[in-house]
Amino acid sequence: MNESFAQDVLNGLSAKNKHLSSKYFYDDNGSRIFQEIMNMPEYYPTDAEFEILSMQSKQIINELQFSTPFNIIELGAGDGFKTFKLLDYLVKNEIEVNYIPIDISQEAIEILTKSLKERLPTLKIQPKVGDYFKILQNSKDSEYPSLLLFLGGNIGNYLEEKSIELLKLFNKNMKVGDKLLIGLDLKKNPIVVHNAYFDKHGITKRFNLNLLLRINRELDADFKIDDFDFYSYYNPVTGDVKSYIVSLREQSVEIKALNRTFNFGYNELIWTELSKKYDIDEITNLAKATNFKLNKNFLDCKHYFADSLWEKP
Ligand code: AVJ
Repeated sequence: MNESFAQDVLNGLSAKNKHLSSKYFYDDNGSRIFQEIMNMPEYYPTDAEFEILSMQSKQIINELQFSTPFNIIELGAGDGFKTFKLLDYLVKNEIEVNYIPIDISQEAIEILTKSLKERLPTLKIQPKVGDYFKILQNSKDSEYPSLLLFLGGNIGNYLEEKSIELLKLFNKNMKVGDKLLIGLDLKKNPIVVHNAYFDKHGITKRFNLNLLLRINRELDADFKIDDFDFYSYYNPVTGDVKSYIVSLREQSVEIKALNRTFNFGYNELIWTELSKKYDIDEITNLAKATNFKLNKNFLDCKHYFADSLWEKP
């Protein structure tokens, strides 16, 4: 099960420019630290997207122009806190939907299902644990139209080429007329972005260093956390936030499960995360490059974040 984690750590730490993927941040501890990040006042994406879904659910649903009932398939549903606003609108207006939240975390799906059953008892919900694409494949067979949700700005974690690959794969698994509502973080005042990702509370630092603790635990390594620091930097021209773990001294770390010792130089970096910020032109181009038709962008009042509605033509 941890084959690919071990393999990716081996590749990443053997590279000339060391790297570890942010997709491994989200173990149980990491998911809890991410909750803390979402609760920081500086981390604006959560509030901005919550505002969009609170204020504009009606406009989003009207824009779908779907016959009912329809499917809502949420990729990486997590705790579903934001989606509640959209579902609440549908239930209150007696619009019949079949909600299919998908997440790799069994725990997250259980919590989400329990809370939705209490808060929206009439909502039809078919939770799924596991791989997006297998489940997406099945939805292609549904006689009803589907709205895919890919919220939170997760697309920003992918390098451009990878993000195009992923969105094309979504497209391939959709029926003509199906819609995708995708969350993208927008370019904005660089200081706002800087403060969200290089936070003064040190929560994002803990989020990154947790990855070293995970390697210690799962791959039997001996990273000394106090000998590493965190640095994050926003390039407002490209829109890239890049995050790094910094080795505070020359040191070597043994990873027993890999049968290897890795050397870290004084101030050597391990690249951990990309969080790309987009402008509207880039969103238009991304939709085009992945064979979608962009129907409409829904922005929060500060224009910090976009939920962009795309259609498979
Ligand atoms: C969950 C991927 C959207 O990139 O903004 C938050 C993760 N990293 N702070 C993001 C994250 C640092 C987050 N996403």
